[in-house]
Amino acid sequence: MFKTISEGNVKINVPIERKISKKLSVFYNPVMKFNRDLSVLLLNTVNKKNIQIALPLAGTGVRGVRFLKEVKGIKHVYMNDNNEKAVKLIKQNLKLNKTSKATVSNADANKFLLDGFGFDYIDIDPFGSPNPFLESSIIRLSRKGILAVTATDTSALSGSFPLACMRKYWAKPLRNEQMHETGLRILIRKVQLIGAQFDKALTPIFSYSKDHYMRVFFLCEKGKTHCDKIIKQHNFVVFENDYAGPLWIGQLWDKKLAAKMFNNNKIIENSSFLKIINDESKINTLGFFDLHRISKRYKIHNMQKKEEVTKKLKKKGFKVSNTHFSGTGIRTNASIEDIVKVLK
Ligand SMILES: C[S@@+](CC[C@H](N)C(=O)[O-])C[C@H]1O[C@@H](n2cnc3c(N)ncnc32)[C@H](O)[C@@H]1O
Repeated sequence: MFKTISEGNVKINVPIERKISKKLSVFYNPVMKFNRDLSVLLLNTVNKKNIQIALPLAGTGVRGVRFLKEVKGIKHVYMNDNNEKAVKLIKQNLKLNKTSKATVSNADANKFLLDGFGFDYIDIDPFGSPNPFLESSIIRLSRKGILAVTATDTSALSGSFPLACMRKYWAKPLRNEQMHETGLRILIRKVQLIGAQFDKALTPIFSYSKDHYMRVFFLCEKGKTHCDKIIKQHNFVVFENDYAGPLWIGQLWDKKLAAKMFNNNKIIENSSFLKIINDESKINTLGFFDLHRISKRYKIHNMQKKEEVTKKLKKKGFKVSNTHFSGTGIRTNASIEDIVKVLK
C-alpha cells in the first residue's frame, strides 16, 4: 500500500508503514528531509553546469527526483537500488513528477558504480556505515567532483562502542560533549584515507552532525601532493585526561560556501542551523568549550548565560560563536583560562 506525499517541489509515492526501520519494503524517512533539503541547497550554491549525479542507494527515489526538479544544471541522474520494489517505485515517482534525464537500475551499489563512469556528484546514503561503498564511489568520482557521505552508525563514531569505531574507522572516539565533533572528524579521516589510495584528495566543504546521523560533503582533487597535504592534517586530539583519533584536524567547512548557503537559503524553513554553521565556519578551532563542563570543573556556582559569556569574550577581542554540536558549547579562539576568567 502506498500514499502520495509532498516533499520540496515534488510528489512522491511512499509505502504506508507504521515504523521507520531498515525492514521497510522501501525505505522513506521523513526525518531525512533536512538532509535532502541541504543537499539541494548545496548543489544549487556550488552551481556547477552539466553535472552527472549517481545515487547508488536511491530508496524511493525522492532525493533523485528532487534533484531533477530543484537543482539547476543537471545533465543526468543515475539512480540505483538493490531492492526491486524500490526500483519500481523510483520509476513510478519519476513518472509522477514528469521528469526525464534519469536512468534507473537494480544492482548492488558497488557493481552499479564500478560498471559506470565518472560522476560529478555521488551521494552515499546507506543504512549504517558508508564503508562498504567508499572505494567504488571514490573510484568513480570525477576531478572536482563532490562526494556526499551519510553515516548513521553514530554509536560507533561517537564512542558508545569504541572497539567498533577502532575496527571500522581506525580511530579511538570520545564519549563526552565533544563526541559528535570528534566522531565527524574520525569519519572524515577514514574517507580521506580511502581517497588517498586512489590519489584523490578529499577536502570537506560542508560537514555536520544532526539527529541520528553525520554528514560530510567532500570536494575531490587529484594528485599525490594534494593527498599528502590532507594526510598531514591527521592527528590525535587530547581532551582533559583522554584523547581521540587519529582524526581530521583541518576545517570542517569551506567558509565561503557556508556563507553563501546561509545567504541563498530559501529551502530550509528554520535557517538557525545554517546560521550557526556559518558563524562556526569562521572560527577554525579543533573542538569547542562546553560551559556546563567548565563550570563544574572549575566549581563556578553562579553560571552566566551563554549569550553573556559570548558578549564578554567578544568585547575582549576573541572570536566566539555557538556550535551546532552542542547547545551548551561555544566555539572560540579564546583559551580555557580566558573563559574561566570571564566566568568567574
Ligand atoms: C537509507 S536508504 C536510502 C534513502 C534514500 N537515499 C533517500 O534519500 O530517501 C538505503 C537504500 O539502500 C538500499 N541498499 C542497501 N544495500 C544496498 C546495496 N548493497 N546495493 C544497492 N542498494 C542497497 C536499500 O534497499 C535502501 O533503499
